[in-house]
Amino acid sequence: MRILLIASAALLLASLAVAQPQHGLNLMPMPSSVQPGVGQLPVDRSFSVAITGFRDATLERGVHRFVAELSRQTGMFLKQKPADSAHPALLIHTVHGSERVQRLGEDESYELVINESGAKLTAPSPLGILHGLQTFLQLVGTTANGFAVPVVTIKDQPRFAWRGLLIDVGRHFIPLDVLKRNLDGMAAVKMNVLHWHLYDNEGFRVESKRFPKLQEAGSDGLYYTQDEIRDFVAYAHDRGIRVVPEFEMPGHSRSLFAGYPELASGPGPYTVEPGGADAVMDPTRGKTYKFIDKFIEEMAKLFPDDYFHIGGDEVNGHQWDANPKIQAFIHAHGMKNNQDLQAYFNQRLQKILSKHHKIMMGWDEVLHPDLPKTVVVQSWRGQQSLATAAQQGYSSLLSFGYYLDLMWPASRHYAVDPISGAAASLNPEEKSRIIGGEACMWSEWITPENIDSRIWPRNAAIAERLWSPPEVQDPGSMYTRLGELSWRLEWLGLTHRSSMISALHRLAGTDDIIALRTLAEVVEPVKDYARMNSLKTAWDFRGPLNRLVDTVRPESDQARHFRDSLQAYIGSGYTDRAAEGEIRTLLAAWRDNDARLHPLLEQSFLLHELAPLSEDLSTLGVAGLLALDYLDKSAPSPESWRAQQLALLERAKTPKADLLLMVVAPLQQLIEASAGQKQKP
Ligand code: ACM
Repeated sequence: MRILLIASAALLLASLAVAQPQHGLNLMPMPSSVQPGVGQLPVDRSFSVAITGFRDATLERGVHRFVAELSRQTGMFLKQKPADSAHPALLIHTVHGSERVQRLGEDESYELVINESGAKLTAPSPLGILHGLQTFLQLVGTTANGFAVPVVTIKDQPRFAWRGLLIDVGRHFIPLDVLKRNLDGMAAVKMNVLHWHLYDNEGFRVESKRFPKLQEAGSDGLYYTQDEIRDFVAYAHDRGIRVVPEFEMPGHSRSLFAGYPELASGPGPYTVEPGGADAVMDPTRGKTYKFIDKFIEEMAKLFPDDYFHIGGDEVNGHQWDANPKIQAFIHAHGMKNNQDLQAYFNQRLQKILSKHHKIMMGWDEVLHPDLPKTVVVQSWRGQQSLATAAQQGYSSLLSFGYYLDLMWPASRHYAVDPISGAAASLNPEEKSRIIGGEACMWSEWITPENIDSRIWPRNAAIAERLWSPPEVQDPGSMYTRLGELSWRLEWLGLTHRSSMISALHRLAGTDDIIALRTLAEVVEPVKDYARMNSLKTAWDFRGPLNRLVDTVRPESDQARHFRDSLQAYIGSGYTDRAAEGEIRTLLAAWRDNDARLHPLLEQSFLLHELAPLSEDLSTLGVAGLLALDYLDKSAPSPESWRAQQLALLERAKTPKADLLLMVVAPLQQLIEASAGQKQKP
């Protein structure tokens, strides 16, 4: 009885503790309710799956992929054929089908009950089953006796209905196989919208049969055929992911004018070559709307989703200002300015979309009281516009704070909640208009080789923010689970961890990359728009993108671990020997690295620029070891020495080769700490 009481108390505590999970299950995103039990269900070669209730081809393909994935994950050749035995290892029960074209707000919930004799996954529709199967895969672990899943009861549903990832294929074309593996990654973390940014000034990426000069003049030959797009949309649908296309209007559309210059507000000529970011459609001419109508008619059939994104961002109006006819139109229609003209354009656009049965979405610049409330507003310039849109009656979603191209750490994205800031004080009805958010992968600095590492694993932290209860906030727990998820994602074919290794070989032109890797592991690309701002030629993103900055990860795990070890060491009053040992090992490796790396840096033209960075790392290693020696001897470091080291640190803070050394800040802390006596913990 006592044991029962203790067990049920433990279960109660564990189920309350979803906010800071105590159960130790490496699930990401964290389900809304997890009740751990005792024991486990073996996953061995006899593992079988049976389906009861509703079934359709989407569900069957989902189960097929699940078994294939489990086979790959375990190296066992599991039976693909659904079991009809009365006692399958996993029983799947679905009540009804999903919509043929997946809809925003469909029920995605599921319940997964695992006990020692079998597991049962139930959901109203296949959408929930797909999510539950991903949870099951994350639960499979290696034990002393074989593979197993723990006994557990999980009840789960998303917090937000719109959990998206934007991928920009305009600036740099991304092949479909790369996009497909990213869809697999999205499905693994329960994201359900791919926002496909299909063209921008630098390239138009969709085959139009009606207006073939769009892809012919508007791209470098790299675009998706309509057959490929249909196949891709079906691939996404199979994984519970909606594909929302974005066709930028009226700005960001130079590539469109390469084939159809008559749509632009200025004389041109237009090409996809750099220059001319002012290019914008002429909203005053009937011809423009005729073109848009025919174009949207064609694209609306190709992209079955209810939603259609029209961009609408960053119209600087220079071409409108410079065109007397457009200015005359503004005055004749009683408009005050270019914003009013864009609102007029958006109103006409919205009517065309509505005629083709699409709901219009736009970036937050489209927000204007003249627009119907059906329009969805995507906030990117700040969180205020999200709240304002919701207050005014528009559905809105958040991307500000989720820009993966800014190279922020996962923890910073993770801390951004759609219902925070200005949105926190909205009333419940207004809050309910905030339908979710989207991570954004803008592709100015992206190649097919590095894109996975720019999206993953950080995107999983955003996926959790959008799926899990708002109380799930602990960054320590997030990083632990992200670490586990990260290598599981590579099993799906993503290359966010492995791509750096092959790229380092190319940079070095040789087999021995140990010293180069030591440097690569502690640097990160410069943040925010620093790289953009340092461009010598404005808005030329053609590359080549083959430098160290193009391959190192946006977030250095090693620098984070170093910071954690240092915190543990300082927090222990300098008595934590294990932490000190780890710190010393790293510092010594950094100290000695420059001598090993230097010959390589001279051999490869791609590496010359790294010499000052490599020297800085060695200098930091020396300084850190001396600081530790002072602390070990309980002898305060001399002030003049500290001043000298802090000056070196200042130098090391400056970006070099568009890279930042991520161990400078913790070392500064160590050097400053060496001034004082040992403290008691
Ligand atoms: C944007 O980043 N211009 C939407």
